[in-house]
Amino acid sequence: MTAPLLTEIDHVAIAVQDLDSAIAYYGETFGATVAHRERIDSDGVEEALLKVADSYIQLLTPTDEDSPVAKYLEKKGEGIHHVGYRVDDCAAALQSVKDHGGQVIDVVPRRGSRGTTVAFVHPRGAFGTLIELVEE
Ligand code: CO
Repeated sequence: MTAPLLTEIDHVAIAVQDLDSAIAYYGETFGATVAHRERIDSDGVEEALLKVADSYIQLLTPTDEDSPVAKYLEKKGEGIHHVGYRVDDCAAALQSVKDHGGQVIDVVPRRGSRGTTVAFVHPRGAFGTLIELVEE
């Protein structure tokens, strides 16, 4: 193994029913402020990123009842949805997942929010955690 492929925690994503209530909770309780808010229609979600040092809390709520996040909320309720790991090279990190027999959701990297390049790794084969690889 050469240099580590994961360079930092980019974000912890939390699925919530009501984005504004969750933003208010983090703001009032912890003084966290929204650094970025974006509706991503291709994923059927709206997100708010709250900055914590160099990482984010990503609050996610569905905008489409057929989206994966809507299904997740229906099945599991609110809570941690995925962990985003920052990488220098999303394609290289994704290739390493494939090379090690991992199951990917995105076969090739795609566009994420904030103009990032991302790819998701299936929790099956990743010890039960949905992983997002994030290249800024
Ligand atoms: Co994410």
